[in-house]
Order: sequence, then C-alpha cells, then structure tokens
Amino acid sequence: MKLIFLGPPGAGKGTQAAGVSAHLGVPHISTGDMFRSAIKNQTPTGIEAKKYLDAGELVPDSVTIAMVRERLSMDDCRNGYLLDGFPRTVDQAIALDSISAPDAVVDIDVPDERLLSRLTGRRICGKCQGTFHISKLADERTCPVCGGEVYQRNDDKPETIATRLKAYHEQTEPLIGYYKGLGKLRRVNGDNQLEDVFKAILATLE
Ligand code: AP5
Repeated sequence: MKLIFLGPPGAGKGTQAAGVSAHLGVPHISTGDMFRSAIKNQTPTGIEAKKYLDAGELVPDSVTIAMVRERLSMDDCRNGYLLDGFPRTVDQAIALDSISAPDAVVDIDVPDERLLSRLTGRRICGKCQGTFHISKLADERTCPVCGGEVYQRNDDKPETIATRLKAYHEQTEPLIGYYKGLGKLRRVNGDNQLEDVFKAILATLE
C-alpha cells in the first residue's frame, strides 16, 4: 500500500506512523527525519535545509522533491510506502503523482489549541529515537524505554511552532481539497487516546 499521513505539526503523524508502517509492512518515510539526518551529517541537502527548519518554514520544493524521488526509488519501496510529512504543497503532490501516486491519504485532524502543548512538551530519545510527552516521563531527562537521554527539537519552541502552523494552514491544508477531489482522502480524529487513533486509522484503511 502507498499511504500518506497528512496533518498539522504535532497531530501525531510520526507517533502513529511507527505502528502503522510495521502493521502494513511498508517503510516509514519522514521527510522531517530525513532533513534532520542530513543536517547532522552536514550533507549539501542538510546545509541547504537547515535555515528553513530552524525558522519553521518549508524547504523549497525542488530540494524536497529530489530527496523524496531518490528515496522512493529504493528497493524497500517496491511494496509501497508510508509518507509522513510529504507532500506539503500542491506542487509536491503533483510531483508525487508522477513518481508513485498514493492509494490513500489519511488526514489526522487535531485542533490548533491542542498542538502547542503537544509540541512544546515533546521529547525525543537520542538513543532509540522514541517520542514522548514530558508529562508522561518520570524523569524528564531519561527515556522510559531504553534509558537514553531525551532532548527537545530545535523547532519545538513557541515562536517557531507559530511559523510552522502558519505554513501548514497556508501551504499544506489545501492538499485536503486536492486529495478529496481525487477520492483518496480519509479523515481521522487525532484528538483521542493513542490506541484509539491507531485503531481508527486501520479501520479507515480497510
Ligand atoms: P516534520 O518533522 O515533518 O515536522 P511536522 O510536520 O511539523 O510534524 P511533527 O514531527 O512536529 O509532528 P507529528 O505530527 O509527527 O507529531 P508526533 O507524532 O511527533 O518537519 C520538520 C520541518 O522539516 C518542517 O518544518 C520543514 O522545515 C521541513 N520539512 C519536512 N517535510 C517537508 C516537506 N515535505 N516540504 C518542505 N519542508 C519540509 O507527536 C507530537 C507530540 O504529541 C509528541 O509529544 C507525542 O507524544 C504527542 N502525541 C501524539 N499523539 C498524541 C495523542 N493522540 N494524544 C496525546 N498526545 C499525543
């Protein structure tokens, strides 16, 4: 299956993608993770992308589409993919249709007022890459799964979150209409318990 997770920053795309990609047996491809890895490794893409991620703005389409085109040509995508964070503009969606068109698009819907506390409270384990909310951590510096040290993403600061939400509403939200028009859109209420969101996603794909 070729699947896209759409939704605002903090909707739970990455959290749900881990379980859903394992369930479907397709790779979880997060363009945000790809950019962060490129920045860490100081590749040409990473050097170009860094200023946009730091500001909470979208990386230019030409850079992003080239990166995804290369990733989707890899062997592990032969049976499908779960794209998390791509496409984010109508031009990216049009490009994806010509590379490898999706079968379904799940829009994880969460109201803006919930997103700020989810994002400012998000912590990521530097060792196992698990994502947690600070309110669920017994020790706010330690991963409850592997004991690694947790950190906060650079763009999870209130002022950058505001820019990311603006980019979502202006540039990404129009994709809801785009995929609705193609008959591929499924909507799931993401303002629910993690397990309930997971079940709702699987149910909508059946
Ligand atoms: P990216 O990494 O994709 O960030 P994002 O879309 O802003 O999404 P997030 O990762 O912040 O949120 P999420 O929906 O995955 O939520 P999560 O599961 O972590 O992109 C970062 C940057 O890269 C962009 O700003 C841009 O610069 C660039 N970029 C990436 N793709 C691009 C593209 N296609 N084009 C151009 N530029 C691009 O959950 C968040 C928190 O909520 C966690 O703490 C979690 O524990 C908690 N949570 C999750 N679900 C629930 C629930 N049901 N109830 C309570 N808490 C929950």
